[in-house]
Amino acid sequence: MNDRKEKSGQRMRLVYDAVVEGIARREWKPGDKLPSVRIQSERLKVHRLTVLKAYRKLKDEGIIEVKYKSGYFVCRVPAAVPTPGAGIPDDRLHWDYGVHKSTVNRNRAMEFQSQSVEYQMSKALIDPKLLPNRYLSNHVRQVFDIYPKVLSTYSDVMGDLELREAMAGYFLQKHGIVAGADEMMVTTGAQQAIDLVSRSLVKPGDTVLIETPTYGPAIELFRQQNAKLIPIPISQEGYDLDRVEQIMNRHRPRLFYVNPTFHNPTGFTVPSPQRKRLVELAESYQCILVEDDINHDIYFECVPPPPLFFYDTEGYVVYIRSFSKYVAPGLRVAFLTARPPVMNCLVPMKALTDHGSPLLGQKIFQHYFFSDRLQAHIAKLRTALQLRKEKMEAQLAGTGWQWASPKGGLNLWIRLPEEITAESLLERCLNRSVAFLPGAICDPLGLLNNRIRLSYSFINEPQLEEGIKRLIAAADTLKGIDNTRGT
Ligand SMILES: Cc1ncc(COP(=O)(O)O)c(C=O)c1O
Repeated sequence: MNDRKEKSGQRMRLVYDAVVEGIARREWKPGDKLPSVRIQSERLKVHRLTVLKAYRKLKDEGIIEVKYKSGYFVCRVPAAVPTPGAGIPDDRLHWDYGVHKSTVNRNRAMEFQSQSVEYQMSKALIDPKLLPNRYLSNHVRQVFDIYPKVLSTYSDVMGDLELREAMAGYFLQKHGIVAGADEMMVTTGAQQAIDLVSRSLVKPGDTVLIETPTYGPAIELFRQQNAKLIPIPISQEGYDLDRVEQIMNRHRPRLFYVNPTFHNPTGFTVPSPQRKRLVELAESYQCILVEDDINHDIYFECVPPPPLFFYDTEGYVVYIRSFSKYVAPGLRVAFLTARPPVMNCLVPMKALTDHGSPLLGQKIFQHYFFSDRLQAHIAKLRTALQLRKEKMEAQLAGTGWQWASPKGGLNLWIRLPEEITAESLLERCLNRSVAFLPGAICDPLGLLNNRIRLSYSFINEPQLEEGIKRLIAAADTLKGIDNTRGT
């Protein structure tokens, strides 16, 4: 590429990114008018034609629209907002070290999840005191007795065969899922499974559907592939499947990342009839459904419906089942199940990544998970978590804040009063040794500024009582002060 062309492309990208960043920061909200071409060119010190080119590109991508004689406006439902700066070579180098600047966005959740606060409600993790740690340690010793050479060898790339066969039997018995050990891969947590899927199945420019709100790190993984993300709202009733069908028809997405059972962060569960129809849509539009199922066994009332994978006859569902949270978080064992055409794309990436998850953890998991004692423990764990959830809800009862009481999972997803933003509340809470997750982290567009995720699973009931008291006190200091509300 000649120098002039390259510079002109960079200038165009500058304008493009300025708009995308402005939308993500909510400087311009859906329906808002953008600065005119003239004003934008003066502001960014570029030629008007450059602005025009950037606006055209944004329009073609369905992010902004042009209204006759009125100017340019942010689309009411932006089709997809890419990562600012995505896909362009980063010429800003850390010359000090001779390495490129990281292209991974800062993980904001990790920043305050790693802060040592007394009342930690930002981590959707289970209190280690609720897990049978002594029992697990005994198992570890037994595993060394049964497999004295367990540390002297690698696992298969797809995972230990005995474990995969045992899990295939479990899925059949529990969910009626028929999948062989050769259609199952052991991964290092669901996180690695989503990463493998995004790196193996998504090419730059592909469209990916993703729930809003959703699990924040999944947003970043698909962004890393330079995918165009289209947010699909999830509600207590599930998805608006007519809208999903329109979007599939129009955008032909590569995949749809879903967390339909005790969804993180809302706790919603997509009902069975919707599951069946969603799978049919995926098959009709050849869109892979990536089903992330991390909370399946954490239900408080009824057993949830079978996974989407159960309804799939054509191989369009990739089923990711993690036991990380409630069995043994330190082992990081999860299972990815997919039919051979998809699995064959994923195995080479797993081999490149780590040659297979460590064998020791898999063997410990196998003996621990299928033991009667652990299965009985999961039942007790549900009761303990339900009590914590009820405690948190009782403490919040007088606030007037809104949430749908979850029937499973680890979190409350709360809508704050209009005048309070999650960010300002978090700042005041951290000063009081309280942490929670601000909703914007869970939204592909970075909106949802007056939603928060409160996890009731990590701290005990007396701590929940005090933590919520402090949270409410922090919110009281903001009443009538903060007018920068979100949607
Ligand atoms: C929806 C969702 N998917 C994946 C993960 C990562 O799970 P794992 O610990 O198995 O990597 C989490 C963790 O919180 C999650 O909430």
